[in-house]
Amino acid sequence: MCGIAGYLGPRKAVDVVFDQLKRLEYRGYDSAGIAFPERQDIRILKKAGKLSELGRLLEDTETSDVRTAMGHSRWATHGAPTDTNAHPHFDQTENVSIIHNGIIENYLELREELAAKGHHFHSQTDTEVAAHVIGDEYDKGVPLEEAVRLAVKRLRGAYALVVMSRTEPGKLVATRNASPLILGFGEHENMLASDIPALLPYTREVMVLEEGDIAVLTDHSVRIMDGDSREVPIKAMTIEWDIAAAERGGYEHFMLKEIHEQPDVIRQTLAGRIDDKNQIRFEQIFGEHVWHEIDRVNIIACGTAYHAGLMGKYLFEKLLRLPCDVYYSSEFRYGDPVLSPKSLAIFISQSGETADSLAALRLCKEKRIRTLGIVNVIGSSIARECDRTIFTQAGPEISVASTKAYTAQVLVLTLLALYVAQVTEAPGIRVPSVVEELKGLSEKAKACLNTEDVVLALAEDVRNAPLCFFLGRGADAYVGMEGALKLKEIAYIPTQEMPAGEMKHGPIALIQPGVVSIFGATNDAVLEHSSIREKVISNMQEVKARGGTIVAITTEEDNTVERVAEYVVKIPKCESEFLSALLSVIPLQLLSYHVARLNGCEIDQPRNLAKSVTVE
Ligand code: M6R
Repeated sequence: MCGIAGYLGPRKAVDVVFDQLKRLEYRGYDSAGIAFPERQDIRILKKAGKLSELGRLLEDTETSDVRTAMGHSRWATHGAPTDTNAHPHFDQTENVSIIHNGIIENYLELREELAAKGHHFHSQTDTEVAAHVIGDEYDKGVPLEEAVRLAVKRLRGAYALVVMSRTEPGKLVATRNASPLILGFGEHENMLASDIPALLPYTREVMVLEEGDIAVLTDHSVRIMDGDSREVPIKAMTIEWDIAAAERGGYEHFMLKEIHEQPDVIRQTLAGRIDDKNQIRFEQIFGEHVWHEIDRVNIIACGTAYHAGLMGKYLFEKLLRLPCDVYYSSEFRYGDPVLSPKSLAIFISQSGETADSLAALRLCKEKRIRTLGIVNVIGSSIARECDRTIFTQAGPEISVASTKAYTAQVLVLTLLALYVAQVTEAPGIRVPSVVEELKGLSEKAKACLNTEDVVLALAEDVRNAPLCFFLGRGADAYVGMEGALKLKEIAYIPTQEMPAGEMKHGPIALIQPGVVSIFGATNDAVLEHSSIREKVISNMQEVKARGGTIVAITTEEDNTVERVAEYVVKIPKCESEFLSALLSVIPLQLLSYHVARLNGCEIDQPRNLAKSVTVE
């Protein structure tokens, strides 16, 4: 998730763009750059590191006469955060320069195609390839907007692009597909950015560019065309938010924003990893022969990432029949684990800096065990030190309570299990049909956000509960553990979480009026004449008989839980039961959020916690 900014008008354009980038800082960045016309050329200044590094470069450069500029703060997806990989990027002839947010999925194919025509690339980025594709069209002598229109037909993936040309200096051309881009309109000035907050100090008249549309901005005009070059009317809206709220995209808290980002995160996480034949493609992981050799998987992580790891265990064992253990990082290091030399250790971490996980990773390295990271932050220690790393592509997560990172971690584990099934030709799994389901998951996640009404009513009960149980069987039990962690950490409600069948072996003694039990009941698979859901319903009955309040999370076609549960939350059904279970985390996240909000808790920075735990 990168930040994009652009400005044309009477102000000092470089200063405005730099200020806009600062306002997009919450999107995270590891390098930044600015481009502006200078004499007959385009001048690019870019630097790895914090925005202040770019600021230092700008201090030494005279830019007070510049009236058009575009800038970018990068959150690396392809290639390390270096000066060279930072945006903007030039095309082959340096006639055009671009900034980009998103992922060009077919960049390798395009890169090979252009290299065969003599193009040279300086960076490892997909963005530079997009710049070359645009340049390739522009060299045919068409206007910049036409070059962009033709070029995007060759691109696959998610992108917001802004393009500047050497020969049309007072113009910026922008387009987008599945990545955000906002246009801002002022008096004799126009601008654009990835998000509204960057525009608010300059204008409150904004418009969200529609997917596939192309905007042509000068200081005195904005023209928008659709993908067939038909003119599109401009529909500006006036933004009333204060600047702080705007940074959260209008949401009251980052946590709520990040919960709502999950449909997009699912798309981003899948981006570039599924080909036209519904096969999984991973570039950064071990050669295919390695997967035949691995005899055991150990997943090592903390907190939410540990819970994602439990889902990984479920997937590896169920889909691949590959033994898998999941360890808390802090226990792994001191537990003297028995490690097979043919095993694989997977480290899951949002931040990539968690000290317990890093220490466990170093132990595996010492013991020469193969290591694979599943990490969100590129350039982080775990990402750098693992033999191979898969990035979750969830974008920066700011709220201390992890939400979208969990979904992305489980999705990467799903892709990985499917990939291993593919390369080892594991019997009994139809990879393309699960992949087909994954493609529809983003829409189903969107539907899960519509459970807010019942979740709000439930939150009124849970806010006063002395104790809340999270129960389920199989994957539902694992997701329940994550739901419980959320409720503890941001709403400070005591929880007990376990497989539903365990209740009767002791914990049921804690049931009394006021205690709420939330059951995941999304799995209706039939085993030995009765379904897993029926077994869960029996466990609900046992709790209800002792005066507990019953909540069921089930799939939309089910009407069996209603006879026992006081609250029923319905989510879309997936054919693969672990995907239904994964979706059920969304209402659980919303529940914690609303309980915390009702109880006046500090949501984005809960007491006693830090986003990245860098001490053991
Ligand atoms: O950055 P990591 O994923 O390694 O962090 C691990 C845990 O500290 C983290 O998931 C923590 O449990 C979150 N606060 C949960 O919301």
